[in-house]
Amino acid sequence: MTIIDNNHHGIASMEDKGMQKMGSGSSNNYVLGNTSDEIERLKIQSALFEPLTRDALLKGGVRRGMKCCDVGCGPGEVTKMMGDMVGKSGKVVGFDINENYIKYCKASTKQKNISYLCDNIITSQTLPAETFDIVYSRFMFVHLSDKANALKRMTRLAKKGGTIIVQELDHAPDSWLSYPKRKGVNTLRKIYVKLVKNAGGDPYSGRKLYKMFVDQNLDSTIESYSPCLVMGREPFNSLGWKIALSLKPQIFSLGLMSKKEFDDMLSDLKEMSQDPHSFVLYARLFSVIGRK
Ligand SMILES: C[S@@+](CC[C@H](N)C(=O)[O-])C[C@H]1O[C@@H](n2cnc3c(N)ncnc32)[C@H](O)[C@@H]1O
Repeated sequence: MTIIDNNHHGIASMEDKGMQKMGSGSSNNYVLGNTSDEIERLKIQSALFEPLTRDALLKGGVRRGMKCCDVGCGPGEVTKMMGDMVGKSGKVVGFDINENYIKYCKASTKQKNISYLCDNIITSQTLPAETFDIVYSRFMFVHLSDKANALKRMTRLAKKGGTIIVQELDHAPDSWLSYPKRKGVNTLRKIYVKLVKNAGGDPYSGRKLYKMFVDQNLDSTIESYSPCLVMGREPFNSLGWKIALSLKPQIFSLGLMSKKEFDDMLSDLKEMSQDPHSFVLYARLFSVIGRK
């Protein structure tokens, strides 16, 4: 476990170097890795979900002066958004198990009201209980082996009357829908589901959140959305083949596809991304907000 303050000295050059290989840090079996390409993908994905995340934060009551935590912050796009929303009188902690993401966050964060912490939410004892007005997490729960414990820890971090918000996808068989139909989309969904399960995660976490919140005695609401990605239009059309590239090392190290099968899937996804007649309905996003 490492605590890293928001001290930018000497780190700014990491972005210039392109962060080609960041290494796997402490989360070895994390399926998406943390290369510079994966960071780029997460930033595009963040732009896609930005309105839905802002909406959830506003519904959760975020306002100036609040203390917030972004659990599983990755490259910190939501952390930075929260930093702006709470203003100079507020504070945000970005929390992630992967030290390389935390280093990237430090290098790319300008706001003085944000600090970062490298730890595992399932085992963390670092932050005191009842610290935050809002404890938020996005796209981390599918990767967890012990979701209930993670939510318990997040609930512990929230003040009495504070809010816990989790936004997570659910990769149900019918959820990734392409029209005109593309084989590569379904192949990618199936391989992603397999990899997540193999790493101990749960690709169907989205639908399970609400019950978990109620089990924690949180006064909860649930909403769900399906983002529609129009092909032929940058940058969201590239998300499919970018996910495939992020998964490539794990796919090959587990022998889940031959090189030809992977290349066929990739070229199908790339071809689709340039077809202005087509779209992909991506996995359902579940947004659950609970009051402690
Ligand atoms: C798909 S990324 C999402 C990043 C960011 N929340 C976003 O929406 O762009 C999932 C993140 O969760 C982090 N993570 C996975 N397991 C974790 C754990 N047990 N504790 C803390 N962070 C974890 C990963 O390192 C990764 O940065």
